[in-house]
Amino acid sequence: MATSFQNHLLISTILLLLHLFTAFATTTAPKPKALVIPLTRDDTTLQRIIKLNHRTPPKITPLTVDLSGEFLWLDCGPITPSTTNRRIHCDSARCALANSNCHMTHITCYNNNNNPCKKLPCNIPLKNPLQNIINKGELHTDVFRINSTDGSNPVRVVSVNRFTYGHHAHGPGSTPLLKGLAKGVKGIAGLGRSKLSLPTQFSSTFKFVDKFALCVSSSSFTDGFIIFGDKPYNLFPGLDASTLLSYTPLLTNPNPQFQSDYYIGVTSIKIFQNPVKFDKSLLSINKNGIGGTKISTINPYTILQSSIYKSLTRDFAAQVERPGSFAKRVNPIAPFTVCYEGGSLPFTPIGVVVPDINLVLQNEKIVWTISGTNSMVMVNSINAYCLAFVDGGLNSKAAIVIGSYQLENNLLQFDLVNSRVGFSSSLLFSRTRCDNFNFTSA
Ligand SMILES: *[C@@H]1O[C@H](CO)[C@@H](O)[C@H](O)[C@H]1NC(C)=O
Ligand SMILES: *[C@@H]1O[C@H](CO)[C@@H](O)[C@H](O)[C@H]1NC(C)=O
Repeated sequence: MATSFQNHLLISTILLLLHLFTAFATTTAPKPKALVIPLTRDDTTLQRIIKLNHRTPPKITPLTVDLSGEFLWLDCGPITPSTTNRRIHCDSARCALANSNCHMTHITCYNNNNNPCKKLPCNIPLKNPLQNIINKGELHTDVFRINSTDGSNPVRVVSVNRFTYGHHAHGPGSTPLLKGLAKGVKGIAGLGRSKLSLPTQFSSTFKFVDKFALCVSSSSFTDGFIIFGDKPYNLFPGLDASTLLSYTPLLTNPNPQFQSDYYIGVTSIKIFQNPVKFDKSLLSINKNGIGGTKISTINPYTILQSSIYKSLTRDFAAQVERPGSFAKRVNPIAPFTVCYEGGSLPFTPIGVVVPDINLVLQNEKIVWTISGTNSMVMVNSINAYCLAFVDGGLNSKAAIVIGSYQLENNLLQFDLVNSRVGFSSSLLFSRTRCDNFNFTSA
């Protein structure tokens, strides 16, 4: 009797210890509150590249970051499949989150409630945002690895075992889907406003807030960063850059085609303090989704609708060339139109000195300032500084597309919880930079 009781006690104790051990194991490996990944500049295209650690056995694949991209897709070519790769089927909940054409192509299956149809792959169109090329892909899952962060350093590698992505398999040779993407890049990392974008999948996997910060560097030799999750965003020398953010509402384009884009409400443009005159109705998004201001990591330079471009360049040049200035205009080089001889503009450690271009947001006090470091680009072939804005023509979709060069050394926070965008203007004025995140593991 006693032995049986003792056995029972022993087993209970073991079970209790096991239970405590599992509880302990889970508490010692808490869910990360934020994730961090370095962001490299490609000098030729000004695209921003992340190196994705994925597959089994692990592989590292460079991807171009597309702020508007709905999900991540990979050119998988004819390579050996990863052992952890899984295909998603038409009847899966994940497939329903994607813009799949399951229900279009297999409508008869669904109508007949025919079981074998449910095993059909979840076909989705994969988009190359630069060329408007669309190609066939399937939704798959695989393991993705990324560093967690405490806001100051990478802490440890965490895995997302079933990250959903668009899989583009094809025979030997290259695929047109990669046309125009930076050299070596094998796909797109979509950060857009959609259910399968990187930020949404990370925040739902690890149950942290749906916010992410983007900070792009101004050189290919040093890295900027993306932090998925909330602040702090600590940068050398000990500054939480989130304290530098001003906020403006995030606007939604009513046209489903543009719903994954991040739009903000620019209400006027000033050069220094002088408003640029143009038809302000261009700045609102109309019911067809035309107009407004969006942010892009794909376009190298800010694109302005033609009439805005003409007024802005005229007013900007008039202010730079005001009486008494030494600015010497030179023949422009496409795609730019306003260029000055390199040595003829005043220079400080922060860059060339030209009048600020101010994007006025929801009120006169909330202003995104584009100063010389982000407005003027050095064009070596003509030894000149050119105004780094381009003419988008009269039929451009958004009136203003803020490009990647204008984002350099600016911290942006996309806050989906409060539907707002935080922006810092140039961090150089606060004596820090996007390449000041410490990527040495803590
Ligand atoms: C995590 O961070 C360390 C230190 O920066 C780096 O060496 C490593 O490659 C990172 N791992 C992943 C999966 O990004
Ligand atoms: C970067 O972080 C590491 C690890 O915490 C630390 O030892 C190092 O001093 C930091 N570097 C700078 C420049 O702060």
